Amino acid sequence: MLRSALLAASRSATCRALVENTPVLRPIVDRFVAGPAIEDAVRVVNDLDGLLVSLDHLGEATHDRAHAERTVEAYRLALRRLGEAELAGRAEVSLKLSALGRDLPADGEKIALECTRRICEAAAAAGTTVTVDMEDHTTVDATLSIVRSLRADFPGTGTVLQAYLRRTEADCADFAGPGSRIRLCKGAYDEPGSVAYREKSEVDASYVRCLKVLMRGEGYPMVATHDPRLIAIAETLAGRSGRASGDYEFQMLYGVRPDEQKTLARRGLRMRVYLPYGTEWYPYFMRRLGERPANLVFFLRALAAH
Ligand code: FDA
Repeated sequence: MLRSALLAASRSATCRALVENTPVLRPIVDRFVAGPAIEDAVRVVNDLDGLLVSLDHLGEATHDRAHAERTVEAYRLALRRLGEAELAGRAEVSLKLSALGRDLPADGEKIALECTRRICEAAAAAGTTVTVDMEDHTTVDATLSIVRSLRADFPGTGTVLQAYLRRTEADCADFAGPGSRIRLCKGAYDEPGSVAYREKSEVDASYVRCLKVLMRGEGYPMVATHDPRLIAIAETLAGRSGRASGDYEFQMLYGVRPDEQKTLARRGLRMRVYLPYGTEWYPYFMRRLGERPANLVFFLRALAAH
């Protein structure tokens, strides 16, 4: 219920104005977000020495073409900066198709494909890759179709599958072929029971089934979770499938279990940190609060002290 309330708050303009205009909350936001500018993100990538990174320029649900163009430019700038700083070897980018025009009324999917293609070209020029994030369940077919098209020219393009969706085990089988890069996560949106598992135990069981499919497959699984039990299971399944540590990777969010991120990397496992930056941090931040009651307690304490 708490999670649903915070997800609803993430869409509320009033809550957004309150949170954005309360400077005392800034340190809590900074725990999860690198800062407003690409320079902030590059500085944090440097600090995350020894870890792989996926940079996310924050921004969702674009409703005009000009905004989508600005998002393309932001990513092209990010990729240039990563190249100049010689960080493209360990940093790629993640993006959301809603920020690239997917929901525009006419030709939205075509526009999103064309915009993402330009970002993939910039990523290829810098020597790195793109991963397409997954949003709510109504967008899965469009996202997978766009990713299939991109992979024809940019085979390293990755995407995300969400274990809470009932369809995902079958999607994992479809995307377990050679060269496929699939980030498996639990899923962050408030989805109805008709399409998604709602109980934690069901989501976790689905995550393990999906992991089995991906680990047995010929692609490159990206295990995105902070859940210690699932991390241990992933390692076991990788070993059973004959995968060496370079044949898959773990992923976690910036600011969540940072010590564990370093521990896994020190053990020789590939560990990638998802690092958001930009001024549009509000919906992302509210989703993170909803994932852990302790985060909300810090947040409310700071608000009360204000
Ligand atoms: P779970 O929520 O069960 O948490 C397990 C444990 O991890 C908790 O007990 C706590 O200790 C810790 N933890 C988890 N979240 C925390 C937080 N916010 N703050 C502090 N501690 C926390 N979703 C999506 O729908 N589309 C996407 O494209 C992506 N992309 C993505 C990339 C990466 C790299 C990650 C790690 C996650 C995503 N997600 C996502 C989000 C994902 O779906 C999910 O909401 C979160 O990862 C939380 O789920 P866990 O697997 O960590 O398990």
